[in-house]
Amino acid sequence: MSNVDFSKLRNDFPLFSAKENSGLIYFDNAATSQRPIQVIDAVSEFYKRDNANPLRGLYDLSMRATDDYENARSTVAKFINAKEASEIIFTRNTSESLNLIAYSYAMQNVTEGDEIVISIMEHHSNILPWQMVAKAKNAKLVWLECDKETGVIPETEYSKITPKAKIVSVTYVSNVLGITNPVKKIAELAHKNGAVMVVDGAQALPHKKVDVQDIGCDFLAFSGHKFLAPTGIGGLYAKKEILEKMNPFLRGGEMIEYVTRESATYAEVPHKFEAGTVNVGGAVGMKAACDYLSAIGFDAIEEHDNALCEKLISGMRKIPHVHVIGHPNAKNHCGIATFTIDDVHPHDISSILDTEHIAVRAGHHCAQPLGAYLGLPATARASLYFYNTEEEVDIFLSKLNNVRSWMGYKD
Ligand code: ALA
Repeated sequence: MSNVDFSKLRNDFPLFSAKENSGLIYFDNAATSQRPIQVIDAVSEFYKRDNANPLRGLYDLSMRATDDYENARSTVAKFINAKEASEIIFTRNTSESLNLIAYSYAMQNVTEGDEIVISIMEHHSNILPWQMVAKAKNAKLVWLECDKETGVIPETEYSKITPKAKIVSVTYVSNVLGITNPVKKIAELAHKNGAVMVVDGAQALPHKKVDVQDIGCDFLAFSGHKFLAPTGIGGLYAKKEILEKMNPFLRGGEMIEYVTRESATYAEVPHKFEAGTVNVGGAVGMKAACDYLSAIGFDAIEEHDNALCEKLISGMRKIPHVHVIGHPNAKNHCGIATFTIDDVHPHDISSILDTEHIAVRAGHHCAQPLGAYLGLPATARASLYFYNTEEEVDIFLSKLNNVRSWMGYKD
């Protein structure tokens, strides 16, 4: 048992004590997390004290803003154990990071007849860019399918990764099933077959220690807002030797070395990939989020989230007509419980729970191919984080128990 006092940590999140949110049970953490005061203050302090346009001003204030920005990059690099800070590019979010790989790496390296391997449980952000590349280059999209009951990708599926593959792009943690994929093993297979490995880390970074060197991936995409940082700041990790060979994604501002009327040469990595005025406030917030999570420690966070998820899922499974999707063991859900209730549309589930101040997501969760594969085009999803409590789970279970009767069903 960790000695972290999670109930005390909850007090760091002002949103829960705002009078507008009295009684709120926030179970939509897979969509976005809440922010602790330490992150909010760090962003606010930056704007109160250090704000200027970084990377181009030759005066003290601008240099302080540059230092804040580059310190954030170093902290994020350490957070995911990148070899060096220059392997981190700040973007807006996971979607932008994945598009950057598609436009700046894949469009140069994928050719006719090549294959791009993804899994059936990918978020649209890890599907659409590859559909675009496959279409433009006459390449083929290959799908790793999962077991419909557990969400596990069976061993036999991995034989679809062959020397034809140029890119393998798989989510670390599914935003619907909560299952963790063996990305280290998949990266080994990708490399053995001459492909690069892309990991969608959006749902993993909030919950587990992510180590890009241990995984051995070439790229890892992530969003700050899922792990306590502000919205509008995300990141892309990529191995430096790959980044150096890639063309810029967006052009303009200080991402250049020299510009003539006819052409331009570009700045060194990572600045070559950061066109325009960058989001320093967001980066400072992401640094504060990394510091906050590192101080708690991911062993404690995982232990807390797994125990709470076990209570949630075992409680849900006892309620008649409620069906939790995915692995039987709650430890394989990363805090996510996606579910259906017989005869009740997931949008109704969400609206009914909302009348009890419970926030859950309902719909396709931006993973429509998975919904079609499972025969579940819409589901409801409760997703936990470390500031959620056992008491909240108890209230949620009792309200969930009432959803069918609210809809007029007798049992
Ligand atoms: N990708 C986020 C989710 O799963 C928005 O809800």
